[in-house]
Amino acid sequence: MRIYIKDLNKYIGQEVKISAWVDVRRDQGKMIFVDLRDSTGKVQGVILPSHEKALLVGEKIRTEWVLNVTGQVNQRPEKNRKSEVLNGDIELEILDIEILNEADTPAFDISTDGYEVNEDARFRKKYLDNRRARIQRNITMRHKVNLFIREYLDKENFLEIETPLLTNPTPEGSRSYIVPSRIYPGEFYALPQSPQQYKQLLMSSGFDRYFQIARCMRDEDTRGDRQPEFTQMDMEMSFVTREDVMKVNEDLLIKLVTELFPEKKIQTVPFPVFSYKEVMEKYGTDKPDLREDKEDKNLLAFCWVIDFPAFERTGEDNVDGTGEWTFTHNPFTGVKDDFISDLREKKNIENIISTQYDIAMNGYEIGGGGIRLHKAEDLKKVFEIMGYSDERIETNFGQMLMAFNEGTPPHGGIAWGLDRLLMILLNEPNIREVMAFPKTGEGKDLLMQAPSKPADKVLKELKISINK
Ligand code: AMO
Repeated sequence: MRIYIKDLNKYIGQEVKISAWVDVRRDQGKMIFVDLRDSTGKVQGVILPSHEKALLVGEKIRTEWVLNVTGQVNQRPEKNRKSEVLNGDIELEILDIEILNEADTPAFDISTDGYEVNEDARFRKKYLDNRRARIQRNITMRHKVNLFIREYLDKENFLEIETPLLTNPTPEGSRSYIVPSRIYPGEFYALPQSPQQYKQLLMSSGFDRYFQIARCMRDEDTRGDRQPEFTQMDMEMSFVTREDVMKVNEDLLIKLVTELFPEKKIQTVPFPVFSYKEVMEKYGTDKPDLREDKEDKNLLAFCWVIDFPAFERTGEDNVDGTGEWTFTHNPFTGVKDDFISDLREKKNIENIISTQYDIAMNGYEIGGGGIRLHKAEDLKKVFEIMGYSDERIETNFGQMLMAFNEGTPPHGGIAWGLDRLLMILLNEPNIREVMAFPKTGEGKDLLMQAPSKPADKVLKELKISINK
């Protein structure tokens, strides 16, 4: 039976079998010390001169070789005990070694945090980089956060529902990646920038509360807190007010932090709420860093920002606006009751206040959402204000208008940038450090060598020619 390294101290005096990597090997002439590592921790192994067969293998093995090791768990002599580290009080007396796989000399040191290693080198061999303790912890905590969210929302009567990846563009103010169709040459799917339209259509479908740990793809320039492919904790609820959605999310965030990151302290509960106007006047940004002590790594200062303008004038970098106006967040966001007649009459546009809410923490926008429009004529007005033609509205959003005319309940939701949240909770400088296989700042996957040029045969089949 294989024993995990973290459990070895339960087997003192017994013979056990572990499966592990060679972390460090130190040849001391007569004896060889081998630090062994598995996904649960490390243990110091020792090959004594009396175990000749093991000693012969022990002379050959090198860092990162993969082994089955049989050994006896011994208590360390009193003077050699280190109580502060895992297995600091025990040692594995190695009796037999089976080599499962050899390994080339590692391209970089994985015994450190790795911040000092060139990032391209790390990403080129990400599987190797992933073995370092810091990344193992980050990815493990990521799993625990996902699991916590799932269990929590299940109890709150949410259903996790998967939505399609091959679809049509959903506007989130960025460009979509497109995927050619072989069966319909010249036609393309789009990868979702978010599950926005589908999650609203799930409310039309009669699923009262939806959530998804959802992959989103956006063709935008990469930054420290932005990747072309990232993950949202996405949710939508029927028959709710803005305050209902904010409450569910605030409660979930507080419980998640308290339970999984007990070393963290939330500065203010309940989270402060600012209007957009207020936050801009006071802090000059809609994602203020409210921490009283910015040096304190364990301090979390959440806040909500509400009452955003619904429209802004079209800027250079805006890909969705064709007219004078575009939406500030997404076109499906509703407007506050006081402004519904302005929307319907398409007047006073610059002053219309939306039902959007954002959540910020320590200077980052970690989530955003809103109560949506749920009447077809109101949604149509948004597109008209943006200067869309009837034809464009029908082609791009016909499905939403159709569903809104067939019994869609009032609804609203939110999406968190899960990578960003994890980045802050794990004290990382960028979101690449909380992803198992991130892309570089230039949007490349250096391990898979993506993106790449498809084979001529593939392009021919898709009837695509490249115009250099
Ligand atoms: P929004 O576009 O604000 O809203 O996205 C929600 C959150 O996702 C995170 N985020 C990103 N994280 C990493 N890389 C990116 N490229 C990236 N882009 C966004 C941010 C952001 O706050 N459908 C709406 C949500 C809704 O209205 O319910 C949406 O996607 O933390």
